[in-house]
Amino acid sequence: MVSIKNAVSEKMVGKTVQVRGWVYRTRSSGGIAFVVMRDSTGIAQVTVKKGSVPDEDFVSATDNGIESSAIVEGTVAEDKRAPGGYEIRASRFILVGKAEPFPITEYQSTELLLDLRHLWIRSREQTAIMRIKDSLLRGARNWFHENDYTEVTPPIITGVAAEDSTSLFQIKYFDRIAFLSQSAQFYLESLIFSCDKVWALTPSFRAEKSRTPRHLAEFWHLEMEAAWLTNEENMQVQEQMVTAMLHNVADECPDELAMFKRDPAALKKIVPPFDRMPYGEAMQYLQGKGFDMSWGDDLGAVEERELTKDRTIPMFVVNYPKELKPFYMKENPDDPRTYKNSDLLAPEGFGEIIGGSERETDNELILERLREKGEPLENYSWYLDLRRYGSVPHSGFGLGTERIVTWICGLDHIRDAIPFPRTVSRVFP
Ligand code: 4AD
Ligand code: MG
Repeated sequence: MVSIKNAVSEKMVGKTVQVRGWVYRTRSSGGIAFVVMRDSTGIAQVTVKKGSVPDEDFVSATDNGIESSAIVEGTVAEDKRAPGGYEIRASRFILVGKAEPFPITEYQSTELLLDLRHLWIRSREQTAIMRIKDSLLRGARNWFHENDYTEVTPPIITGVAAEDSTSLFQIKYFDRIAFLSQSAQFYLESLIFSCDKVWALTPSFRAEKSRTPRHLAEFWHLEMEAAWLTNEENMQVQEQMVTAMLHNVADECPDELAMFKRDPAALKKIVPPFDRMPYGEAMQYLQGKGFDMSWGDDLGAVEERELTKDRTIPMFVVNYPKELKPFYMKENPDDPRTYKNSDLLAPEGFGEIIGGSERETDNELILERLREKGEPLENYSWYLDLRRYGSVPHSGFGLGTERIVTWICGLDHIRDAIPFPRTVSRVFP
């Protein structure tokens, strides 16, 4: 039993193999059937000749239907006409699960494909996206492990707003209310006092009303927090970790990347350090490009596209004005209008993939900012405790894993970077 990718290769020519998979397409004429089979690794043409297989197998090969599952046994041979240049000449074709007429045919609307997502995720494109995501995450996981970070498991149900309290999902929690986590940050901040350097991959939830091609209501958030880390060191961690992710996917997934016209060699050229551009400078650059904006205006998708469209390597925008960012960030002593923070923007016009900062350690400042926002202080008492018992300077960040996948694969919409997207209009399937 071998994978399809391994079966149809030079070294297997003349050998007998057994593969398992699903019918990708099928064509038969007279005494011969050409069944293209797929598994997670690729596709292969299987030639089934009447007389070369038991009679019932020949019937199975000619009368099955797309997405039927089957076990095939045969000999690998070179054939210029087959996709990939090799085929399997069957001695057995055993149908395991005959498929009803498959509801997805060649040209389908986006809405229909979303309704049939549980079936559409079998497509070669979706399979490649999932493999690319898997590989990117392994690159990050290996990097954290090699650099002595501890993977931790923060809660998803929480009582606090970690980011914008207007985008909280509220849930009934026994006889009170609670929220779905927007970020594990506050729990990671707590855990640095036991483990020094921690990271976690968790779902984060944002009730974002706006329908944009880069926002999901549920996304997988890769977050890091470390004691003693300055904002500059925090950016060094980001550029090293992102580089490790990109190099890992370049090594592991050249075929999948090729499906999205992404050159692995170009990914290998991305190495630290990434440029750091202060917010004030970004503002001047945009004004120079004719953008009608001034200090304090946020950088949205359009502005980030302008800043990154001619770049091939990610860049940091640093030191945003305080009014644009959450209460927990550390004031920048060099310009107290701003925080010691950074957003990492992916190149080619893509924009934000990471948000990070050094954290405020002065409880008076934190309380002042929470009061200004009208937040219920009692919910944050435990967070304030962290500053009362052996406080240390610390920093961290959060990477949106679907954002980096969307960028790498050049997808039009972030919903294709997650198998079952959750958006304003969709929780089915
Ligand atoms: O910039 P954000 O909101 O920062 C935080 O949540 C911090 N607490 C992270 C931290 O310091 N631990 O979100 C971080 C990243 C963004 O840069 C973006 O990539 C992604 O999470 N993100 C989303 N991805 C998909 N859909 C959404 N609605 C997202 N909101 C944020
Ligand atoms: Mg952000």
